[in-house]
Amino acid sequence: MNKKNISDVDLDGLRGRTVIVRADLNVPLDAGVISDDQRIQASLPTLRRLTDAGARVVLLSHLGRPKGQVDPAYSLAPVATRLNELLEPRVHFVPHTDGGAAVDALDAVGEGEVALLENTRFVPGETTNDPALAASWAALGDLFVNDAFGTAHRAHASTAGLAEAMRSKGGEAVAGLLLARELEFLAEALRLPERPFVAIIGGAKISSKIGVVSSLLPRVDRLLIGGAMANTFFRALGLGTGDSLVEEDSIGVAKELLDQGGDRLVLPVDCIVASEITPDAERRPTGRTAVQPGDRILDIGPRTRELFAGTIGEARTIVWNGPMGVFEIDAFAEGTVHIAHAVATACDAGAIGILGGGDSAAAAQRAGVMDRLTHVSTGGGASLELLAGAELPGVDALTDRSS
Ligand code: 3PG
Repeated sequence: MNKKNISDVDLDGLRGRTVIVRADLNVPLDAGVISDDQRIQASLPTLRRLTDAGARVVLLSHLGRPKGQVDPAYSLAPVATRLNELLEPRVHFVPHTDGGAAVDALDAVGEGEVALLENTRFVPGETTNDPALAASWAALGDLFVNDAFGTAHRAHASTAGLAEAMRSKGGEAVAGLLLARELEFLAEALRLPERPFVAIIGGAKISSKIGVVSSLLPRVDRLLIGGAMANTFFRALGLGTGDSLVEEDSIGVAKELLDQGGDRLVLPVDCIVASEITPDAERRPTGRTAVQPGDRILDIGPRTRELFAGTIGEARTIVWNGPMGVFEIDAFAEGTVHIAHAVATACDAGAIGILGGGDSAAAAQRAGVMDRLTHVSTGGGASLELLAGAELPGVDALTDRSS
């Protein structure tokens, strides 16, 4: 990567200095209780490195999508509590977002301690990338560490804006350990992949993954398609899909991708169908040419599981984004779980297996294979953008290595 990261920073010089860190602490909350703290855990290495060096850390994050005003349901207070349990240094929660408003509260923050400011999206300037808001945070110190991979595809005040504000006042904006690791796997490792290189793309909507499929297609040896997006491809082949989810507007694009991909684009040969999406629905396997009116395709079938697992087993580099079916329901999870095990087994044998965030990470967790995978991304949208070959504004704005 041609951008500076935290390893380029002289840690000895940080004692007593204020460092501004943007993390992605956007964790799921269930009635105010954190239901999955993976993103908090993933932010700890950078925070530890800075606090161990004696820096005073001002920590920024968004949570959910509040509309530029205070909404207590999205307060970062529960995140501060969890951080305090996980990090040895004291974490102070500051109930202000704007840098200027937080200044007095920061007086109480000592060396090696952390001040978590309130949700960046509680002020309107965050999502509009207001330079004045970015400058209010940049004014707090002269080093900005962006570790928010999950938000790196957003040009917001606390991501790209803050990096630019920091650089324009002569400070440095560098990548944190998590951001650097995500880029290493999702961009660098896939640039010159060891072959065979196999991509597995699933999920409901082809429209949200056209960029990824068309960017990966010329680079991979095989691209396996699963999930409801396969239905749109079935229709492009002229097959019946019963009552299954199909994106009618994307059938044309699916045809183009089929032409472009040839043998490299592999669709399911069979599927699991049911008449309704319920845990106790009667399910049956069927060939992809025999889907009946009223059927809903809800998972890949047993022959496809074996076909895909065989291809994955021969791969040296694997990238996976999106489930193979409605994996949240046990009856339709078998395909996704089988693929998760196939990827993990390939990794055990030395392949590089990289998972996009969101649903695929949840699927890997459900299959109990997280620890066996080479890399599980913390970013859903950001990992899709990166896999599609797009530049990430939060990374673009960091200090160049050469400067
Ligand atoms: C995510 O969960 O994908 C990131 O935190 C970004 O959130 P956003 O889609 O609300 O910008």
